[in-house]
Amino acid sequence: MEQFRRLCAGMDCDFREKSAFVYTLQDGEILRQEMQVLQEIGAPIRYHDTLPLPFPVAGGIELPGQAQFHPLKFAYELARQLPIREHTPVEVLNGTRAVCANGCSVQAKAVIVTTHFPFLKWRGAYFMKLYQHRSYVLALSGAQDVAGMYIDGVEGGLSFRNAGDLLLLGGGGHRTGKRGGGWQELQEFAKRYYPRALEVGRWAAQDCMPLDDMPYIGRYGAGEEPVYVATGFHKWGMTGAMSAAMALCDLVRGKENPYASLFDPRRSMLHPQLLANGWEAGVRLLWPSLRRCSHMGCALKWNGQEHTWDCLCHGSRFSQQGRCLEGPARKDLGK
Ligand code: FES
Repeated sequence: MEQFRRLCAGMDCDFREKSAFVYTLQDGEILRQEMQVLQEIGAPIRYHDTLPLPFPVAGGIELPGQAQFHPLKFAYELARQLPIREHTPVEVLNGTRAVCANGCSVQAKAVIVTTHFPFLKWRGAYFMKLYQHRSYVLALSGAQDVAGMYIDGVEGGLSFRNAGDLLLLGGGGHRTGKRGGGWQELQEFAKRYYPRALEVGRWAAQDCMPLDDMPYIGRYGAGEEPVYVATGFHKWGMTGAMSAAMALCDLVRGKENPYASLFDPRRSMLHPQLLANGWEAGVRLLWPSLRRCSHMGCALKWNGQEHTWDCLCHGSRFSQQGRCLEGPARKDLGK
């Protein structure tokens, strides 16, 4: 938070300090556990029996002094200070020499891979330790000022926040390639609770989900060359990115970092989610289908809401015509 406050000062990125709330509809036990942990680390929390949401809650925990900002405005302001080369995807990494698709190459002292899903197919085994989760947002005008940022403590719940005059309603999520509520779930909710509101925008995004809920920040894989990665933020990309930046600044310069072992991508993979990922990939690899993913060959599923071909194995997505929209796949579908 301190780093964001410092960076955003004087930036045109809609930075606003707000309280963050975790609520539940029924399960008070989740809140009790959350409160216990927050109290242990000395967080200045407040408990609420009711919240300014359009439905009754079992309770909510407020964590004051949090913030929201406009991520694209923020990225644009940062980008203005950096040399950035677009449309030159790296095909191969030889040590710390990056070779691009057009044949040019760049030799670096250290390389940090931040391509959302790491782009090197086998190295580091990220195809086993990550999957992608898709979630949806509606922007509503004439809905409600909720004066904070709200998230359901239970998987699959809704989130609420305001941006300017709009209410951003999030939810409907599912593993990419599986069925989920999508925008339809959000539209039904808005119709019921904000019947006079107008939908002025909607979008979807997807996140890389690690095996144990902790991001992978550190050495890309086995090997001694200085190649690093930051991925698997488990939907906490804004705060996770800052943690990654701080940890990687130290690691690249050969300094100790107190969180390095916690985030180390080479930590044990023994976790129930590894079995779930393996099962899903095995089923989709054997599934008979003519439409197969250009990443590792899993059968693709048609996404009727977004008119795309989606891959359940690691979350690649393709347009109706087969153009690659999202990785880890990097090639279009064959004709
Ligand atoms: Fe890996 Fe499709 S994303 S096989």
